[in-house]
Amino acid sequence: MSDFVIKGNRALSGKVIISGSKNAALPLIFSTLITEGVSVLRGVPDISDVTVALEIISSLGAEVTRDGDLLRIDTTNLKYKKPSDELVSKIRASSYLLGANLSRFKIAHIQSFGGCNFDSRPIDMHIHAMTLLGGTVNRDVVAARELVGNDIYFSKISVGATVNAILLAATAKGKSRIFGYAREPHIISLIEFLKKCGADIELFCDRIEIVGARLSGAEATVIPDMIEVGTYTALSLMTDSKIAVSAAYPEHLSSFLDALCSAGASVTYEDGFLRVSGGLDSFLHITAEPYPGFPTDLQPQMAPLLAAFSGGRITDRVWNGRFGYLSELEKFGIRYALCSNGALVFPSRIRSSKASVPDLRGGAALMMCALYSDGESVIKNAEIIKRGYSDIVNKLRKVGADIEEVK
Ligand code: EPU
Repeated sequence: MSDFVIKGNRALSGKVIISGSKNAALPLIFSTLITEGVSVLRGVPDISDVTVALEIISSLGAEVTRDGDLLRIDTTNLKYKKPSDELVSKIRASSYLLGANLSRFKIAHIQSFGGCNFDSRPIDMHIHAMTLLGGTVNRDVVAARELVGNDIYFSKISVGATVNAILLAATAKGKSRIFGYAREPHIISLIEFLKKCGADIELFCDRIEIVGARLSGAEATVIPDMIEVGTYTALSLMTDSKIAVSAAYPEHLSSFLDALCSAGASVTYEDGFLRVSGGLDSFLHITAEPYPGFPTDLQPQMAPLLAAFSGGRITDRVWNGRFGYLSELEKFGIRYALCSNGALVFPSRIRSSKASVPDLRGGAALMMCALYSDGESVIKNAEIIKRGYSDIVNKLRKVGADIEEVK
């Protein structure tokens, strides 16, 4: 257990260099299980979700070496055993074991896959994809004699189910077509990596077509974390700071940047860095939707930003119930009202406080309040924030924040 102790209201300035994306690195790591040989991943973020993912694949026989942000994974000698319940319950991305293990070993266990508990997180679509390609479910075990390609129609956009469908189809016999797929940049980066591994994948507007193949290891660089970019950018705007945030692909955040501009903020992008200024001068309604819509993983960070300026409304069409974090933000003085599919956030006098991290992104929102307000704040259960924000204490200190981690 650790806490962050933050003395707020400091002028922040300087550069923040964004790390590799959590939600891009994790599918790459689990996808190595369907390849045979050595893969090298660069730009892997130093976050606890990655550490857990590596422990899980090591328990299946993967040989992993980690040197800074470089990972070498050898999946030549794997052997199936049911992954540890304790480990899989720590991270959501462990659900990629469904696709990866059924693909590699023709057996997978349905377990209590972890992750932030902000809403119910069903896996019916994952199971649907597994059975369509030949898996049979018997209690908590899914097994197949062989996987055979098929058409998969998803009636909802799911990142996790799309990843699993790709992992299954990539080695299945014959052709699969995945309709209604998630278009997040991390889905595209997974496809690019698997193609380097020898996968036969073609991306169309309405579908992904995959012909199964034997895959070997390959190299990839994890794309920068768009949610980390958005979080530091929102912090800079809220605290009227001069933080320049590295952003190799600003287009990954088009809807977020568009929302800030539409409420009066000024956004500049030069030499690979994003800078925001000016604040928000009008009520803003944001609606979180699948990519390229406004990212749900940035909606909690919008609440303190809206509260510091003219207020706004947040609707989440991905996770309707992702508003539990607001009761912790209330401790900092943020006023809100829950309404259908979302929340109204009122302009508020934000003060220092003591609060407990409810989930990863809610934790980032608490930190924003602490960095904004006068006086000392304590953020309890801060290790949850380190599940997704690489080196956050040092990055904030480098731009002038007074933050300490107390174990
Ligand atoms: N859904 C179903 N059935 C399923 C799967 C999903 O109904 O079988 C629904 C969910 O209930 C939700 C929607 O589909 O309403 C989208 O869920 P999705 O499957 O896309 O979410 P996920 O794959 O479990 C990933 C990220 C989340 C992020 C969501 C949405 C990882 C490891 N997690 O979760 O990231 O919020 O996509 O973009 O990639 C975070 O980083 O803080 C985080 C929670």
